[in-house]
Amino acid sequence: MADDTKIRGVGVLGCGLMGSGIAQVCAQAGYRTVVREVDQARVEGGLGRIEQFLENGVARKKLTAEARDSTMGRLSGSTSVDALADCDLIIEAIVENVDAKRAVFSEVEAVVGPDTVFCSNTSSVCITELAAATRRPDKFAGLHFFSPVPIMNLVEVIRGLTTTDDTYRRVFDFAGSLGKQPVTAPDRPGFIVNRLLIPYLLSAVKAFESGCGTLEDMDTAMTLGCGHPMGPFTLLDFVGLDTTYYIANIMFEEFRDAAYAPPPLLKRMVLAGRLGRKSGHGFYQY
Ligand code: 3HC
Repeated sequence: MADDTKIRGVGVLGCGLMGSGIAQVCAQAGYRTVVREVDQARVEGGLGRIEQFLENGVARKKLTAEARDSTMGRLSGSTSVDALADCDLIIEAIVENVDAKRAVFSEVEAVVGPDTVFCSNTSSVCITELAAATRRPDKFAGLHFFSPVPIMNLVEVIRGLTTTDDTYRRVFDFAGSLGKQPVTAPDRPGFIVNRLLIPYLLSAVKAFESGCGTLEDMDTAMTLGCGHPMGPFTLLDFVGLDTTYYIANIMFEEFRDAAYAPPPLLKRMVLAGRLGRKSGHGFYQY
């Protein structure tokens, strides 16, 4: 008899930076993976990013040309949710907007089977709220990856109030099958990593504003003094100032704790369009 709980096909909603990384690691782990984007240019852009990463991996001798080809062979992209009909697991990685996420889950729900598990890669939206908007709140969990997804080994697995033990175990095991280390995180804004990381990044901005040091010196201090791969301002530019500001506001809203209050400089940089690497200008120029 076929194992109904086995995950064979994965659907990834959104093929931006996070979505393409997630699709890549799923396909590399042997899952048939379909990405869905809103237009063909984004489908091609996302698949192209994956191909480029794999190509670089071959050049760095991190993977073989055969592994690159078989990974690409397991990947496909579409602008239609119909392409996700056979997927056993859906991972949503679209914009951090509750209404947009609810809308896309509702579209997918119309085409997938009743046992398909839904996950969101959100870093800030309440998992229980997203689950409640579907007809399968018991088969819904959070699955939060870190950027750059193919390199960072952690995945946070979040259990909403309605997630069953069975769903949670399947999602946790799935994360492990990607070669990642899963950890259990609570359905509270920031989960574990951002709960600790966001106050750190915000306090770096506050310290800079109050004359603690130059950007370069503060980055060097944390890189060499604490062994971090990047200093706080390089990391802020890497994550995106808008993303950091957005997450901080959600955390402040929920916890009402000054540690999560975005400093005035961060807000003004976002308003000025200085979003970090993606806009070519953040704390540093690119
Ligand atoms: N294929 C395979 N492997 C590759 C690769 C490729 N195309 N490109 C790079 N790699 C491997 C490299 O070979 C190397 O592996 P090794 O250590 O075994 O030799 C490793 O990846 C690092 O690559 P690089 O040497 O090119 O790059 P750096 O050493 O400069 O590291 C970095 C880059 C991994 C981004 C590092 O600076 C880092 O870890 N920064 C911190 C990132 C971070 O904190 N991310 C989390 C952000 S928070 C988040 O995402 C949550 C959200 O909700 C906000």
